[in-house]
Amino acid sequence: MRITIAKQPKKTDTLVLPIKEGEHLTGKQKKALSKQTILDIESSIKEKLFKGKVGEQLLFKNTIIIGIGDKKKITKHSLKKSIGNINEPIKKLKATKISIVHEDANESLWLAASIFMNAYKFDKYLSKKDKKLTEITITGSTPEKTEIAKMQTLLESIYYTRDLVNSTSNDIDPNTLVEEAKKLAKENPEIKLTILDRKKLESLGCGAIISIGQSSTKGPYIVIMEYSSSDAKNPEQPIAIVGKGITFDTGGLYLKPSVHMNDMKMDKAGACTVLGLFKTFKDLKPKGRILGVMAIAENLIGKEAIRPGDIITAYNGKTVEILNTDGEGRVVLADAVAYTEKNYKPSKIISIATLTGAAIVSLGYDITAVLGTEKDLIGKIIESGEEVDEMCWELPLYPDYCEKVKGKISDLTNTGRDARAQTIMGAAFVQAFAGKTPFAHLDIAGTAWANEHKAGYPAGGTGVGIMMLQKFIENIYSQ
Ligand code: BES
Ligand code: ZN
Ligand code: ZN
Repeated sequence: MRITIAKQPKKTDTLVLPIKEGEHLTGKQKKALSKQTILDIESSIKEKLFKGKVGEQLLFKNTIIIGIGDKKKITKHSLKKSIGNINEPIKKLKATKISIVHEDANESLWLAASIFMNAYKFDKYLSKKDKKLTEITITGSTPEKTEIAKMQTLLESIYYTRDLVNSTSNDIDPNTLVEEAKKLAKENPEIKLTILDRKKLESLGCGAIISIGQSSTKGPYIVIMEYSSSDAKNPEQPIAIVGKGITFDTGGLYLKPSVHMNDMKMDKAGACTVLGLFKTFKDLKPKGRILGVMAIAENLIGKEAIRPGDIITAYNGKTVEILNTDGEGRVVLADAVAYTEKNYKPSKIISIATLTGAAIVSLGYDITAVLGTEKDLIGKIIESGEEVDEMCWELPLYPDYCEKVKGKISDLTNTGRDARAQTIMGAAFVQAFAGKTPFAHLDIAGTAWANEHKAGYPAGGTGVGIMMLQKFIENIYSQ
């Protein structure tokens, strides 16, 4: 995928012309069109067939005009929504190259990004692959080359993460997910890789992740990617991002009902987001030290599977009664977080996970739940999300609820005995392994996966979290 700039749109390209509400074609847009097309478009505007509202779109030969709404209310979100239906004309025209003609460089770049986000197609397993959109040229007013390069890097990582999340559990399993980390580390010498396999985890006393992974012949693993920019002030404390990488979640012996199990290849999205984020570092080279940790396992059933009521001992010595084997994500994160805290002494830990169905009940599919111990950290996460149109909303890590994950015959239970507020209980459980380190948790159960196409996100893995975490890191290190 490529975003380029040019003075004039290319003759063979499909044209995308954004028009604001109540406005007409601009001079530059007219220059790109034949007299007849100008007449056709202007008469649609006159006859109020096209008013320029967000969501309006018309096709004239090879020209797509899109409404971008009231000029005073244009945001990244409204622009993303304005191209929500653009796949239809792209498909109809079999367009592989697009030129945008628009007078605002930043808006054009975001529109180009949104078009690419929309046009993603997961065709890994199709024997016949359709031609894809490969290039968008921005004309009219052009963004900085560095901004374009950065956007391209982010989009490539989003595509990469989507590909991983969409890949099936017989393709991406714990072993092959680890291979992905190896590939990234090979491509970027600034990433140091540590792989803790089952044997090593056993010797370290990581009884939590082992208890989930013992249901499978593959894994479990804790993988640590350590990124240090060459100008990082060593021994600066790193920021740690810890992702849940359950390559398939059957629910364990608390077997999920079949419809709820169908998409559970997506339960690795947290780890895949960490991989996608680290992929951006090769080009973006953030200043500082960042740890990407992945807690990888399969949650299967069978004679080795952990049984409800079993009590295990986690890396930090805390005992945990597994009350519900479907609450496996928090259990694998427990060891990953405790190991990271003890061995790397990070300045902050952020976990990212498709942790609870309750996050979908409370915030739906468009808003990520964020919980944590520090207002400042949560504020920075929410702000970074706003800057890239990835909405996060805080749920309280209410101290009384943190009490509820404490056990009677063990130090902790994985779910508490009261099944309510599981998004909070899940975060409270993971937090118990972060020690005194400032901690935030992102529950992406709703946002990591689109059940059907929505503006910017084709059905399947969304790649949400990459732009937000990249922005968060950029904001931290630019202070
Ligand atoms: N992977 C699921 C959460 C999930 C649900 C992700 C729907 C995406 C879509 C997680 O492991 C799980 O099963 N959580 C349980 C927690 C319960 C046992 C306390 C849930 O949400 O029901
Ligand atoms: Zn589960
Ligand atoms: Zn799960």
